[in-house]
Amino acid sequence: MSALEMATTPPLPILPLPSFSQLKWQQRELIMFFHFGVNTFTDSEWGSGGENPAIFDPVGLDANQWVDTAVEAGVSLVILTAKHHDGFCLWPSKYTDHSVVRSPWQNGQGDVIRELVNAATPRGVDVGLYLSPWDRHDRRYGHDLPYNEFYLAQLQELLKKYGSVKEIWFDGAKGSNATNMTYYFTDWFSMVKELQSSINIFSDAGPDVRWVGNENGFAGSTCWSTINGSSLAIGNASIMDYLNTGDSKGRDWLPPECDVSIRRGWFWHKSQSPKTLKQLLEIYYNSVGRNCVLLLNVPPNTTGLISQEDVQRLKEFRKAIDTIFSTNLAENCLIKASSIRGGKEGGFGPQNVLDNDHLWTYWAPVDGDDGDHWIELRVRDEGLRFNVVRIQEAIGLGQRIKRHEIYVDGKRVVSGTTVGYKRLHRLEEGIVRGQILRIRIKESRGVPLISSIGLHFDPFWHPDKRYTKRQGI
Ligand SMILES: *[C@@H]1O[C@H](CO)[C@@H](O)[C@H](O)[C@H]1NC(C)=O
Ligand SMILES: *[C@@H]1O[C@H](CO)[C@@H](O)[C@H](O)[C@H]1NC(C)=O
Ligand SMILES: *[C@@H]1O[C@H](CO)[C@@H](O)[C@H](O)[C@H]1NC(C)=O
Ligand SMILES: *[C@@H]1O[C@H](CO)[C@@H](O)[C@H](O)[C@H]1NC(C)=O
Ligand SMILES: *[C@@H]1O[C@H](CO)[C@@H](O)[C@H](O)[C@H]1NC(C)=O
Repeated sequence: MSALEMATTPPLPILPLPSFSQLKWQQRELIMFFHFGVNTFTDSEWGSGGENPAIFDPVGLDANQWVDTAVEAGVSLVILTAKHHDGFCLWPSKYTDHSVVRSPWQNGQGDVIRELVNAATPRGVDVGLYLSPWDRHDRRYGHDLPYNEFYLAQLQELLKKYGSVKEIWFDGAKGSNATNMTYYFTDWFSMVKELQSSINIFSDAGPDVRWVGNENGFAGSTCWSTINGSSLAIGNASIMDYLNTGDSKGRDWLPPECDVSIRRGWFWHKSQSPKTLKQLLEIYYNSVGRNCVLLLNVPPNTTGLISQEDVQRLKEFRKAIDTIFSTNLAENCLIKASSIRGGKEGGFGPQNVLDNDHLWTYWAPVDGDDGDHWIELRVRDEGLRFNVVRIQEAIGLGQRIKRHEIYVDGKRVVSGTTVGYKRLHRLEEGIVRGQILRIRIKESRGVPLISSIGLHFDPFWHPDKRYTKRQGI
């Protein structure tokens, strides 16, 4: 091969990096939670553990309807509460009789996890499971050895019987009066990794996905996928801010997941109704638009179906997202950058930010160049008109950007910090018109690598300037 034919090599990564499964998870953007169990029938959020299994009778349960709802919302992973704090198991566990076995539903022959897996598999949707560590029913709770053995036994049932499980959720929630006990997390996590090769473990503290520190669905406006796992603990309320923003110096790739419910409660309650489209979009911009995955809870009702109002709202939500983002107004722009790794023919030119690959093709400036990195989009004919700017980093080589600014015709419209997998800026001044858009990277770990840029028009965005100023958003 002659020197002329040899391609320019990609730049070195900046550690830590995501694992294969973490990258897959990040690209899902929107995933769905199903909170379902005895609480659905007692109109409560935390059961006591003393519920009679006879109350569990979702006569019309149809997991196909749940998964169809998820698919229509653009969701590729659904997570079910296999056991919540009340200890009632949605599958026929061998290790307790506090389960569907003692319910009238399908004459005690039913298995909600099986129903979900059977519905999800043919639709190409992945499944995740939630197994509450806090168990208010089981008498072994509070006795370290027997309870941990019991918990591990159930974990093995869940991870051996139902095929591939892509996420397991360890909830740190626990009542203030609950008996103290030690969970053998190290054993649990090792067992999970042994039984499932492509699973991500979620807990307040990872090890694969971390909690974002609140249940509103809002990540910090600075949001690093990196953090020091050693500074985290499961169930420690004093680390919320650290979880919310991450750590630019973090040693671990441990990205945040934003869990929030479409209704006020996690379980279905007759008295509650779904959030408005405006609220859901606010959540979307503050989660997916801040480098996070949004885990949206949609609780099945007592019939065993997702309520029509929720189905309808999710349709509107998906339609709105598609309306906003299916057109990239930057598509036909002329594009140039401060410098290009390997020169014009090296494969790292700025035109890479306009293709459909948002991970492995990217603009890379020249290495070791600490100067002013910028990328500029210019329209050929009539001006641009937009109110949302999307920027994505090539996170496969590490999260890098610390500070960035956006200018339209020389006027600064955004002053931001992190970018990560995806950053969405809804412009505070509303619709902006102009001919030249410049993104300046003011500070980064190594050179910035930008994989995608979009200019979008969001017809639902009507900023109230006084309001946004007050809220600091
Ligand atoms: C905890 O116990 C105290 C004293 O028995 C009681 O007053 C309080 O309501 C309990 N709190 C919860 C959350 O159950
Ligand atoms: C559990 O332990 C914590 C910290 O040691 C203590 O403050 C709390 O009172 C204990 N709770 C119970 C129910 O024993
Ligand atoms: C919770 O985290 C804070 C801050 O890192 C730490 O000082 C404290 O010791 C932790 N508490 C527990 C119970 O782990
Ligand atoms: C995280 O770890 C890095 C590297 O050891 C360190 O520089 C940084 O200060 C740590 N962050 C916190 C918040 O302790
Ligand atoms: C549950 O939702 C379905 C529609 O998806 C509806 O037909 C049914 O009446 C609902 N059940 C209750 C108790 O509201």
